[in-house]
Amino acid sequence: MAEVHARAIRANGHHASGINSSTRDSTYRAADRLGISQRFKTAEDLIHAPDIDVIHICTPNALHAQLAHAAIGAGKSVVCEKPLTTSLSDAKSLVAAAARASVATAVPFVYRYYSAVREIRGRIDAGEAGQLHLLHGSYLQDWLATKTDTNWRVDAAQGGDSRAFADIGVHWCDLMEFVTGHRITRLSAKFLRAYEQRGGDARIRGVGTEDASTVVFETDRGAAGTVTVSQISRGRKNRLWFSFEGSESSFEFNQENPDSFWVGGLRENRIITRGTSGIEHEDARRVSPLPAGHPSGYQDAFNVFMGDAYQSFANEDGERPTGLPTFEDGLRAAYITDAVIRASQSEQWVAVDPFCGVLDDRQTVGM
Ligand SMILES: NC(=O)c1ccc[n+]([C@@H]2O[C@H](COP(=O)([O-])OP(=O)(O)OC[C@H]3O[C@@H](n4cnc5c(N)ncnc54)[C@H](O)[C@@H]3O)[C@@H](O)[C@H]2O)c1
Repeated sequence: MAEVHARAIRANGHHASGINSSTRDSTYRAADRLGISQRFKTAEDLIHAPDIDVIHICTPNALHAQLAHAAIGAGKSVVCEKPLTTSLSDAKSLVAAAARASVATAVPFVYRYYSAVREIRGRIDAGEAGQLHLLHGSYLQDWLATKTDTNWRVDAAQGGDSRAFADIGVHWCDLMEFVTGHRITRLSAKFLRAYEQRGGDARIRGVGTEDASTVVFETDRGAAGTVTVSQISRGRKNRLWFSFEGSESSFEFNQENPDSFWVGGLRENRIITRGTSGIEHEDARRVSPLPAGHPSGYQDAFNVFMGDAYQSFANEDGERPTGLPTFEDGLRAAYITDAVIRASQSEQWVAVDPFCGVLDDRQTVGM
């Protein structure tokens, strides 16, 4: 992700000036590959460098809390990858620390930055869906489909107690709550582990976390939904898909084809494409970086996200561009992940306070 961040920093006219990685070799390799001139011996040295204003944390999950606390302590703005932390208590303490230090933050829930997503959000807010009844979808990948596939995420000490859900399920839930304005209030969850061990001959690791999960939920505005999350679904590379169905119309979006979305009705179904007059909402046009007919994708969305993040960092009165995800949204995701883990362990429904964490600009919330 450091590479995606570095491109997005530059795309917004800023300078990626220093890097630290896990070892000296890794720091040098990354600096060469990303064209970054300052190689720092330790993360602490980087965080305290006087010419560095913003800290980007793109490490394995378990390091996020410690590094983000250090960055906040140094008074630097922080972009920290999701999941914000591997525990709910760490997420709460980070949000509190950032607020106390008046440090601006961002978490790359980047799928908020597709024009189609903003347009669906605008249409649902304007009442086009009517009363939303069913909110369902999935986020499916296959990069851990075989027994020999492995990664630091498989190790709970580095990735956290949930893998598939905390890694990608949080993106889906963030998107659902962002687009619909609904909040999850109750959920039940089933975790599935395809392999008890992973890796090749040289290194076999025990697997402590789930390869897939299914969550059933209810929302504060009376909708029900499901989301299936998997890292073992062959052929599915990065298929974040949702269908939100209401009394007047349905909206469908697929991240692998992000320049359009589908609107379903009883009389007709329509596909609306970015760059056409079907994109009616100013906010959807605002996050559309390319002219009509020029396909945009993940890096483009990331670039717009980073532009918003840096704009909020520069803004001393704390005003944020619409829909910029911050540590509060990372905290909201931590609440949901915590509930999902507890529900899967207890095989019971678990309550989630709809007003914990975050909220976007259409909501008022306490924690
Ligand atoms: N927002 C998104 O769409 C998105 C997508 C993918 C990953 N992520 C998140 O980004 C983070 C990184 O994931 P990734 O896929 O890039 O992982 P990765 O394994 O490709 O990269 C992690 C990097 O961290 C470095 N590292 C490890 N320990 C370190 C330490 N102690 N100090 C400094 N550097 C250290 C490693 O050398 C490596 O370069 C994760 O938290 C992941 O959830 C977010």
